[in-house]
Amino acid sequence: MAGLAKRADLAWRKIPAIMPGGAGSGQSLITAAYRPVASLRRAALRRTLGDMSDMTIDLADQAATEALARRVAACARMGDTIALSGEMGVGKSVFARAFLRYLSDDPMLEVPSPTFSLVQIYDTPKGAVAHFDLWRLGGPDDLHELGWDELQGGIMLVEWPDRAGDELPADSLRITLRHGVSDAARVAHIEGWGGRP
Ligand SMILES: Nc1ncnc2c1ncn2[C@@H]1O[C@H](COP(=O)(O)OP(=O)(O)OP(=O)(O)O)[C@@H](O)[C@H]1O
Ligand SMILES: [Mg+2]
Repeated sequence: MAGLAKRADLAWRKIPAIMPGGAGSGQSLITAAYRPVASLRRAALRRTLGDMSDMTIDLADQAATEALARRVAACARMGDTIALSGEMGVGKSVFARAFLRYLSDDPMLEVPSPTFSLVQIYDTPKGAVAHFDLWRLGGPDDLHELGWDELQGGIMLVEWPDRAGDELPADSLRITLRHGVSDAARVAHIEGWGGRP
C-alpha cells in the first residue's frame, strides 16, 4: 500500500502543468534530491493551493485520483468543506478514502462508504473529519440530525452535496469527477479556494 502511494505521487509529479516549482520549472534536481522527501511533497502540495480556483485535471488512473486527494488533504484546514460530485461509481469514495488515509497517516485505514449511516467521523491529527454520503438523505432538513452544524467546525467531505441544497457552505471546495477516455481515466473539475492565502 505504501508502495502504491509512492508510485501515485511520482505519477502526479510528472504533470508539470499542475506542479508549479516542480519538474520543468528550472528547479535544480540535485537540490530537490537532497531535500527530505516528505517535506518536499508537502511543500509542493501547498504551493498549488492558489491554483484550485477553476481547474480541470486529467486523472489517468485510480492512483492519480488518490494523489489528487492527498494534495487537497494537505491544503485542507479545520472548517473546510470539500464537496464531491459525480455519478455513481465515478470515484468519490476512492477520493475520500485517500484523503482520510493521508490525514490519518495510515495507508491501511478502513474507510467504508457511509451509504446507510450517511456520515462517518474520523479523528485525525488535523482534527475531526466527517465523511458524508448524502445519496439517501431525505432532504436538507434531515442534515441537522446528522450533526451537520457542529461538524462544520472540522473538515467535511461530502458525497452527493446537491442533496444538502442551500445548507452546503458557500465557500466549499467543489470537486466534480467524470469518466475519461479509458475505463480507469477520470477528469476532475475543481472550483473554490481561489483567493485563499
Ligand atoms: N481513476 C479512477 N479514480 C477513482 N476510481 C476509479 C478510477 N478508475 C477506476 N476506479 C474504480 O471506480 C470505482 C469508484 O467507486 P467509488 O465507490 O469511489 O464511487 P463513488 O463515486 O463513491 O460512487 P457512489 O456514488 O455509489 O458512492 C472503484 O471501483 C475504483 O476502483
Ligand atoms: Mg461513494
